[in-house]
Amino acid sequence: MAFETLIVETEDDIALIRLNRPEALNALNSTLLDELSKALTEADRNDKIRCIVLTGSEKAFAAGADIKEMSQKSFVEVYNEDLFGAKIEAIQRVRKPIIAAVSGYALGGGCELAMICDFIIAAENAKFGQPEVNLGVVAGIGGTQRLTRFVGKAKAMDMNLTGRFMDAAEAERAGLVSRVVPTPKLLPEAMAAARKIAEKSQVTVKAVKESVNRAYETTLREGLLFERRTFHSMFATEDQKEGMAAFLEKREAQFRDR
Ligand code: CAA
Repeated sequence: MAFETLIVETEDDIALIRLNRPEALNALNSTLLDELSKALTEADRNDKIRCIVLTGSEKAFAAGADIKEMSQKSFVEVYNEDLFGAKIEAIQRVRKPIIAAVSGYALGGGCELAMICDFIIAAENAKFGQPEVNLGVVAGIGGTQRLTRFVGKAKAMDMNLTGRFMDAAEAERAGLVSRVVPTPKLLPEAMAAARKIAEKSQVTVKAVKESVNRAYETTLREGLLFERRTFHSMFATEDQKEGMAAFLEKREAQFRDR
């Protein structure tokens, strides 16, 4: 499928999706969000794809929702179209792992999009922020909610109230990103992580994603029960037998996704 605002490539069993609106620092306009939800849904359905990497350019992962596109909208318009509702929900429904490889600006909706991914690998030049307050709005895709869960109330309040940016080192210290790598190594590192994930059983990988996400959506007691039952259910798979047998036989496991 050809896209106007994305470049989608496949390397073996990894889908690499690049946001591609350089003239607007990859600002998320309706075409881009439409195309992104389609590209991700497509990758999720494609049996040959086992992991997804989402990235931008060296200067910007994405500088936020498109300010030009929304500046003149009325409350009734954004409410009726449920601005950022359905397209973002389609991205959240993807069951395969998505790694955000973030270089440069990840601001507003850009930071929020990165947080929707399963984890963030940041280049040393990455800058995260929720500067919506400077535009007379609050964040609209999770900047007050997900960010608070990632970095805690103090930093989330600081970033949302002052609009200041967090550099990659601070983002790693605060738990927003899983690792920081030299800027030229960002994509190789993200692709290597994706290949590691692609080697695993896809049944187990989906169960891991569901279980970790459950930690954000329920109480600890319910989350632990969900995890334990999911762990139990893995014993119904051939891949559990293979994984444990391979360990005992001191060989590499050959997973078959069943
Ligand atoms: N929307 C639309 N266009 C944008 C944009 C955005 N979010 N961010 C940058 N651009 C455009 C600029 O208008 C400019 O276009 P022109 O050349 O046509 O003027 C082009 O991208 C390059 O940007 P700058 O000249 O500003 O580049 P810079 O290097 O001087 O500054 C920046 C970079 C600090 C990221 C600055 O562009 C900036 O502050 N951008 C806006 C960041 C922001 O406020 N994001 C939040 C958006 S609201 C949101 O996301 C709501 C939500 O939660 C859903």
